[in-house]
Amino acid sequence: MANNTLTHKDRIAEIYSKLGANERAIVDKQKITVLRNLFILMVGTKLRLQFTGWLQYMLPVPPMLVLFLIAGIARLLGGIQAAIGFAILGSILLTVFAFDLVTVKFRLRPPERLPKRKDHMDLFDLMSSRRSCRSFQTRNLTEADYNELMESVRKHGAETKLGKSNIRFEYVSAPLTVWPTVNATEFFVAIAPLEYDRLAIVDVGRSLQKIVMDATGMGLGTCWIGPGADHKSIMQHLGDRFDTKKDQIVCVCAVGYKSSFIPMFIRIFNAQFYRRLPISSLFFADPQMKEPLNVDRYPFDKFERNYEICQWAPSSYNGQTTRCVAVTNSDGSTRFDFYAVTASRYYAAVATGIWCANWEMGCETLGIHGHFTVLTAEERGIQEKECQLPKYDISWVLDEMH
Ligand SMILES: Cc1cc2nc3c(=O)[nH]c(=O)nc-3n(C[C@H](O)[C@H](O)[C@H](O)COP(=O)(O)O)c2cc1C
Repeated sequence: MANNTLTHKDRIAEIYSKLGANERAIVDKQKITVLRNLFILMVGTKLRLQFTGWLQYMLPVPPMLVLFLIAGIARLLGGIQAAIGFAILGSILLTVFAFDLVTVKFRLRPPERLPKRKDHMDLFDLMSSRRSCRSFQTRNLTEADYNELMESVRKHGAETKLGKSNIRFEYVSAPLTVWPTVNATEFFVAIAPLEYDRLAIVDVGRSLQKIVMDATGMGLGTCWIGPGADHKSIMQHLGDRFDTKKDQIVCVCAVGYKSSFIPMFIRIFNAQFYRRLPISSLFFADPQMKEPLNVDRYPFDKFERNYEICQWAPSSYNGQTTRCVAVTNSDGSTRFDFYAVTASRYYAAVATGIWCANWEMGCETLGIHGHFTVLTAEERGIQEKECQLPKYDISWVLDEMH
C-alpha cells in the first residue's frame, strides 16, 4: 500500500509493528484505545526522530518551550522580571539547540585538526584513555590511517579464534543509521554465522576490541554500536558481501576522528556512562561470587592493572555484564574463569570477548604467559545447571609466571 493512502489505523499498526519488545510491552499495558494510540504515536515519533538523526538535537526543545511558556504567563500576570528571567533561560537553550543544529547536523563549522597519535602511551594508560566517541569530524580517514587500520583488521582477523566458526569484519564507508552517534561515516561490521555459536560471538568481542585498541593508539575515535544499529540499512550497504542465509550482524564499530562539536544530548549521554563498578564487585575468589578477590595478594598482585583495564572495558550501554572468578589450586596452578551475569546471548558474550582481549593484551605487556580454554563444570570443580546465571564462558589458564 502506498504510504499516502494509509488510514490512521494503518499508520498506527505500522508504527506498532516497528516497536521493540520493551516498548510493545508498555503499549500493551495501556487498556484505553485512545491512550494506547496516543502512546504508540509518541513512541513512533520518537523512533522516527531517532532513526532520521534528529532526536540527538531535540533535548533542549521541551524545557525551552516550557521556559518560554512560563515567561509568557509571567508577562501576562505582570511579573516582568520573572518573565525576563525565564525568557533568558529559554534563549540560552534556544542558542544551544541552534548551535548544535548548525555545527553538527548541518556541519557548518570550521575544519578541525587531526587528533594526535598515542604511540607514546603504555597499553594500560591507552586502555584507560579509551572512551566511546559519539560525534565525529566530517572528514574521512586519511589513506595512511585507513591502510594501517585495515592491516590491524587483517592481523586480528587471522589470529587463532576461541571458537570454531568463522567471523569477519566488513568495512563500510556510508552514513549508516546508528543511534545516537552523529556524523559517523566509516564502520566495521562484525559478522558471525547465522547459526548461533556463543564462542563466535565471544570471538567478535575479542578480535574487534584489539582492532579498537589499535585504532585508539592511532588517535582515532571508535564507538561500538549494537542495539543502536539499524540492520536493514547495514545490509543494504553491504550488498553481496552479506548472505542472509548464512550470516548475521553482531554489531558495528564506528571509526573516525573525534569532533569537539558534540550535541548537548550526547554530552549528557556520554557522561552517564562514565562510571564503573568497583573491582571488588567484578573479580571474585569463589564461584558463588561472594568474596571479592584480594588483588594485592600473590599471585594476583602480579596482574597489576589488568583488573582496571577489564573494569573500564566497554559494554553495551555500560551494562558491565562480565565477572571473573580467580582460582588457585593446591598444585599452584592458577586460572581466571570469565562469566556473563545476564542471559543476553549476544551483547554479554561480546562483552566477555572484550574482557578476554584486554586481559590477554595486559598479560602480554606484563610478560605473563597463559592460554584460553573452555572447561566443563566438573573440570572447574563446581556443580552447575545448564541455564544457570552467571553463565560461564571461558577460562584463562596461567602457563608460567616469570
Ligand atoms: C557490544 C556493545 C554494544 C554497544 N552498543 C552501543 C550502541 O548501540 N550505542 C551506543 O551509543 N553505544 C554503544 N556501546 C558503547 C557503550 O555504551 C559504552 O562502551 C559504555 O557505555 C561505556 O562507555 P565507554 O565506552 O565510553 O567507556 C556498545 C558497546 C558494546 C561493547
